[in-house]
Amino acid sequence: MNTKMTKPNIVVLTGAGISAESGIKTFRDNDGLWENHRIEEVATPEAFHANPDLVYRFYNARRTQLQQASVKPNAGHKALSKLEAHIGKNLLLVTQNVDDLHERGGSQNVVHMHGELKSARCGDSGKRFEWLDDFDGTTACPCCGRNTLRPDIVWFGEMPMHMDSIYDALAMADIFISIGTSGNVYPAAGFVQVAKEAGAFTIEANLAFGATNALFDESRQGLATEVVPKLVDDLIAQFN
Ligand code: OAD
Repeated sequence: MNTKMTKPNIVVLTGAGISAESGIKTFRDNDGLWENHRIEEVATPEAFHANPDLVYRFYNARRTQLQQASVKPNAGHKALSKLEAHIGKNLLLVTQNVDDLHERGGSQNVVHMHGELKSARCGDSGKRFEWLDDFDGTTACPCCGRNTLRPDIVWFGEMPMHMDSIYDALAMADIFISIGTSGNVYPAAGFVQVAKEAGAFTIEANLAFGATNALFDESRQGLATEVVPKLVDDLIAQFN
């Protein structure tokens, strides 16, 4: 990309690849299994209905792991907060990740379209509560006192969060950047097409290019901790 712009509108989409070097397993690398269950078997409303204990345990384990001292934001997360510091509110960071490593890396304008691990939701009212400990079907919900709490995660078949603000930002985007996502899960995998139709320059940064790579104007291959800081420096160098 070689267009001089002052404070372009940028939408960044991140996936599991940006957190891989922080010690959080991606979904489709490795064997894609958890305790011999396919991820899809624990990440659906049907799975929660059929075997709630299994689903609570899965997310409790991930919440515990996220709070281990060894799990920290890496150079990729930090580079994105540096980019935000340069262009401010013109950057929207959309993440499919349910970890909080972007926030811990300094990013502020972040939306979690697939929910958040450190949060619990009342299955009746939809109210969300910050939640750092384990919870299950015996935990009283703070809003109704009943056992209605569920992980605050968007499961397969459910509507992702913040879609209006994401599509508004995509419609205004000058640059769309996708980082560390395999491009298999919609609607996130379709954002590149929407951004392109809005006239954005599109960039993919990934270890192995995703399913939608043909739609990107520029592709950078490598580890997020190496590729993202370089990409951010190259972008900042182009802004006046
Ligand atoms: P995937 O596991 O499908 O893809 C991870 C991507 O990260 C792949 O393209 C890898 O090549 C890349 N990758 C791995 N290590 C990397 C590294 N160190 N640096 C850069 N890239 C690396 O994860 P997502 O695309 O995020 O949804 O998955 C999308 C959604 O599917 C998730 O949000 C989740 C899942 O099911 C829900 O839970 C609703």
